[in-house]
Amino acid sequence: MPILPTHENCLMAGARPVHLGGDALGQLERWLITEAPGADVFLLGDEHTLVQCLPELLAHVPSLREASNLQVRSGEQSKDLEVCRALWSHLAEKAASRKAVLVNLGGGVVTDVGGFVAACYKRGIRFANVPTTLMGMVDAAIGGKTAIDLNGVKNLVGLFVDPVGTYVHPTFLRTLGKREVLNGVAEMVKHGLVYDADHWNAVRRAPLHDLDALAPLIRRSAAIKAEVVSLDPTEQDQRKLLNFGHTIGHALEAFALESQQRSLLHGEAVAIGMVCATWLSWRTGLLDRDRMNAVEEHLMGLYPMFHLQEADHHRIIDLMRNDKKNHGEGFRFTLLTGIGSARVDVPINAAQVAEALDHYRLLTPDAHLRHHPQA
Ligand SMILES: NC(=O)c1ccc[n+]([C@@H]2O[C@H](COP(=O)([O-])OP(=O)(O)OC[C@H]3O[C@@H](n4cnc5c(N)ncnc54)[C@H](O)[C@@H]3O)[C@@H](O)[C@H]2O)c1
Ligand SMILES: [Zn+2]
Repeated sequence: MPILPTHENCLMAGARPVHLGGDALGQLERWLITEAPGADVFLLGDEHTLVQCLPELLAHVPSLREASNLQVRSGEQSKDLEVCRALWSHLAEKAASRKAVLVNLGGGVVTDVGGFVAACYKRGIRFANVPTTLMGMVDAAIGGKTAIDLNGVKNLVGLFVDPVGTYVHPTFLRTLGKREVLNGVAEMVKHGLVYDADHWNAVRRAPLHDLDALAPLIRRSAAIKAEVVSLDPTEQDQRKLLNFGHTIGHALEAFALESQQRSLLHGEAVAIGMVCATWLSWRTGLLDRDRMNAVEEHLMGLYPMFHLQEADHHRIIDLMRNDKKNHGEGFRFTLLTGIGSARVDVPINAAQVAEALDHYRLLTPDAHLRHHPQA
C-alpha cells in the first residue's frame, strides 16, 4: 500500500505533524515561538529522560530553558490516577492557564500519562510529544492514544487526543539499553509484516544497534503508523492491522506480571504474540508454511524464550477475555495473508488459541537454527 505523499521530514498523523530527523527539534522550537508566545510551558519527564535527554533537548530548543519541569517515576506504575492528580495539582498551583503547553519528554509511559493529563486539565491544554525510546518513536508518541491504568487493567481510562506535534530525534536512543531497543524493534517488525514487505526485509537485515542504520527504518515505521492512524483514527477498521501480535501479547504481558516468572516488556510479549498469530495465519490457510517459518525464525532469534506450561493456557485465555478489545464469544485476530499484508477481525476460538500457545511452548529457544543448522 502506498504511503501518503508527505514532505520528507514531516509526515501527517491525521491532522498533526510528525517531524523526523535532523531538524525535528528545531521545528519544536519554531512551534513554541510562533504558536505559544508568552504561554506557560511545562516539561514532563522521568528520572532517566530528565538526566539523559534533557540537555540534548535544551541545546536544540532553547525556549524550553524557561519551562517548569515536572517529573514522574519511570515505569508503568506512573500511568496511575494518583500520579495524574499530583500533576494536575502542580499545574493548578502554578496557575497554568488553558493556553499552557506541556512538552512530554520520554517513552510511552511519559507520553501516555502526559497526553492524558494535558487532555483533561481545564478541558484540554496543548501538548507536544518528544519520544526518547524506540517504542515511542515508532509507535506510542504517534496516533493520539493516551491512557492510564486502573485496577490492574492496562490503558483502561484514556482518550483519543492528538499532540500538537511529535518530534522524533533518534539521537536520544544513544543512551537507551539494548533490551529497550529490541522492545521497539518488535513494533517495527509488525509494521513490515502487516503493511510493507520491503520494510520487513530491511528491518530483518539491519544492524539494530547501529543508530545510523536504524534512523531511516524509524522514519519508515513512523510513516506506516502515521498512515494507518490517518486512515482510521478511532480504530474502527484498518487501525486494527496494528493489533497484529497484540491479542495474545497483551494477555501474556498481564500473565507475566502476575506469575512473576520474568518481566516481559510490551514488545517482547508482542513478539511472542506475533509468533502465535503467524502460526494461526498458517493454520487457518491464510499464510503459506515457508513464510510462517521465516517469521518465526526471525522472531525466535531476536527474543529470549518465555517458558510456558500447558496449565498456563487457561489463565492466558481468561486474560484475553478480559481485554477491552475482545467481546462476545471467541476472539477477533489480525492475521497475515502474506508478508506485508494482513486481514483484520478473523474469528479465532479459544481452542485455536490454546493450540497456538502450545506451538510456541514447544518451540526450542534455538528454533531459529532449525532451518540454518550451520548458522
Ligand atoms: N499510546 C500508544 O499508542 C502506545 C503505543 C505503544 C505503547 N504504549 C505505552 O507505552 C508504554 C511503554 O513505553 P516504552 O516502551 O517507551 O517504555 P517507558 O516509557 O517505560 O521507558 C522505558 C525505560 O527507558 C527509560 N528511557 C526512556 N528514554 C530513554 C533514553 N533515551 N535513554 C535512557 N533511558 C531512557 C525510561 O525512563 C524507562 O526506564 C506502555 O505503557 C504502553 O502501554 C502506548
Ligand atoms: Zn504495541
